[in-house]
Order: sequence, then C-alpha cells, then structure tokens
Amino acid sequence: MWFMYGPPTPNPFGRDQEIAILTRFMRDGQPVSLIGPRRIGKTSVLLASLNRSSLPHVMISVEEFVRGEKGFNLAEFISAYINNVTVTAYSYAGYKFQFMEKTKSYLKQIRELIGAVKITLNIPELIALIDLVLDKAERGKNLSEEFSRVLDLPQMLAEKLGIQRMVIALDEFQYLKFAKQTTPEIFHVMRSKWQFQRNVTYVISGSSTGMLREIINTRTQPFYQYFYLMRVNPMDADKSKEFLKRGFEAERVNVTDKEVEEIVSYVHGFPAWLNLVGIKVVVERRPISVILSDLPHDDNVINALEADLRKLSSSARSVLTRLANLGGEGSPKDLGDNTWVVNRALSQLMRYGYVEKEERGIYTILDPMIVHYLNKGNRSS
Ligand SMILES: Nc1ncnc2c1ncn2[C@@H]1O[C@H](COP(=O)(O)OP(=O)(O)O)[C@@H](O)[C@H]1O
Ligand SMILES: [Mg+2]
Repeated sequence: MWFMYGPPTPNPFGRDQEIAILTRFMRDGQPVSLIGPRRIGKTSVLLASLNRSSLPHVMISVEEFVRGEKGFNLAEFISAYINNVTVTAYSYAGYKFQFMEKTKSYLKQIRELIGAVKITLNIPELIALIDLVLDKAERGKNLSEEFSRVLDLPQMLAEKLGIQRMVIALDEFQYLKFAKQTTPEIFHVMRSKWQFQRNVTYVISGSSTGMLREIINTRTQPFYQYFYLMRVNPMDADKSKEFLKRGFEAERVNVTDKEVEEIVSYVHGFPAWLNLVGIKVVVERRPISVILSDLPHDDNVINALEADLRKLSSSARSVLTRLANLGGEGSPKDLGDNTWVVNRALSQLMRYGYVEKEERGIYTILDPMIVHYLNKGNRSS
C-alpha cells in the first residue's frame, strides 16, 4: 500500500533535498540538529539519510528510556549505546552477532556482547568498561562516570577498526534532559567529548522544539552553537498533492483535483495526516468531505493526540484550546485574563513543540490536526 500510518518510513516522498543535504553533512562530520514538531517526518528523513550515506551508523531513540513523568533509565541508555556502537563497528570490521535478541533488555544484551567481544577482538578497554557498567548497574549505582567513558567508545573503535566515518543519531534528544537529575553534567560531558572526535558525526533530532532549542540555542548551555540547525517543514502544497494523487492512482481510487486540494488544505503538509487520510479514502470509500469532517473523531487521531496532550498542564491545555478556537493563532491577551498564567502556559506549549511565536507576539499552533481536534463539537470548525 502506498499510504502507511504509524512507523517512520525509510523512503519519505518528496524529501530528496533534505536527504541530500543531511547525507552530505553526515559524510563531512558536520553536527546537525533536526528540529520540527511531532509527525512532520524527522525520523523518516533521518533514516533515509543514514541509509543513503552508506556509512556505518547507530540510531537510538532517546524517548525509549524515559520512565514516567520525568524519569530516565540511564543504565539502559548506556547499555543501548555500548551495544549499538559496538555491533555497528564490529559488523563494519566483518564480524556478525546473530544472537542479539531485540526483546531483551539492553543490559542483558551487553552481557552477551561481552562474551563475543572477548572471543573476536582483543580490546581490553571495551571489556573492562562493559564489566564495570554491568557491575554498577546490577548494584543500582550511579553510572555518571562510566557515561563519560562510554562517550569515548565510537571514536576509539573507529580508530582501532579503521572506520573513516561513523554516524551517531540520537532521536528525540531533548529527553536526555531528564537524565540531569542523576547526571547533572550530562550535556557538558557530551559536548566536551564530541567536539574532538574526528571520525564521528553526531546528528540529533527532536519534537519538543522549545526544549531542544533551550538545549542547543541558549548561550549558557554547553551545546550552544554546536549543531547546524535543520528545520523539517511540512511538505509544500504541490508535493502534498502529488503524494496523494500518486497514492490514489496506485490504489485505483477516483479522487478529483478539487478533493485532493481539500485534503491538503485540511491537514496542510503533515505527512502523518496525509497518510492517514489516504488510507481512510482507500479503505472506506466515503466522500472526502465526510472523511475529513470525521477525522477529529477518528480513533487514530484521538490516540495519537491524547497521548501527547496528557503531558500538558491543565492551564496549558486550556490555552491551547482557546488558541484553537481562534483558528490556531492569537495573541496572549485573547487567551485568558491572567497574564501570568497565560504566559506560563504558552511557554510550556512552546517547550513541547505545539506552538511557536511569530512576529508581533502572535502565537501559532503548528499542527492543523490539533486545531481541528480541539475544535471538535464547535460549529465553527
Ligand atoms: N515524506 C514522507 N512521505 C510519506 N510518508 C511520510 C513522509 N514523512 C513522514 N511520513 C510518515 O509520517 C509519519 C510521521 O513521520 P516521522 O518520520 O515519524 O515524523 P517525526 O519523526 O517528525 O515525528 C510516519 O508514519 C511516516 O512514515
Ligand atoms: Mg520521530
């Protein structure tokens, strides 16, 4: 099927330019930060570029290690890091690890890794490091010190195994902030290691655009002016239309140009929603206008949006709703009587990547589906 909802795709439509640029940066060693709201296509651009580059690479989604509201499982993250970096470097060197089981915890995986490492290559530093991580993790000890040594691993292996260039991609990077509770210096340590590693390119990406900007764009923060910022924008109108048309053709569904335009103006160029509408048109065969007006009530939309909205404070959610009622943009004075509450809510909405501040103090909701969703039940929508 042309349309696919949910997982990122390694073949994103119409992103050739972004992929060409990012691939070039990966080869050249330019650190990059992809930035954009959820479901805009960051992970897909990242995957496609890693594949296109043909470079040995590691891709870790930091979000996987968030526990509860603001907790972070550093031991598992460190284990995943060691595991992925080692396996990538070793397969580059011609070794294979067939026993890896994705279902096992990363801590268990590095326990098995150590056996293989001992047999295949003789790198005592690596073995000692894994031993130490396992030992400390088992005893529930703080791993901050080992973290710093783990960060040396990619460059060390690159040198030992003759890897000219390796790429490390950390998706949803902003969640590493939660590790600051146990490892306050985490970003300092990363920056101080990364900037001297000649054979490793670091690419990060994040959906909580405000949070990510705080980390990489604040003068007092260690990652200030370290990354090249690459914004991932919605697909433009022409590409969105072409994407839909090609899909409907492939699925042999008759949809007029006018209807295609209707879809694009409803979901703009958000790839996730273009795919979802595409699927619904193909499988439901109902009129486009009915499918669109039903979209805010669709289980997929409700599940996706509520999972994110749950994380907002109640005042942030109500300010977001008022902004949606205004058609998706407005100034603070239209959003509530208590300026302090409104501003605090807006700053949370920006941190989480829902809202951006435009010129002249106008705030805009980035994802049109959020506007439709929060307006559902209103006649105006
Ligand atoms: N250019 C594209 N063409 C087709 N589908 C896309 C494209 N970009 C993203 N998608 C799809 O949209 C959804 C969201 O993309 P994803 O890369 O996960 O976004 P993000 O990482 O920004 O949240 C995924 O299901 C993905 O397959
Ligand atoms: Mg993603």
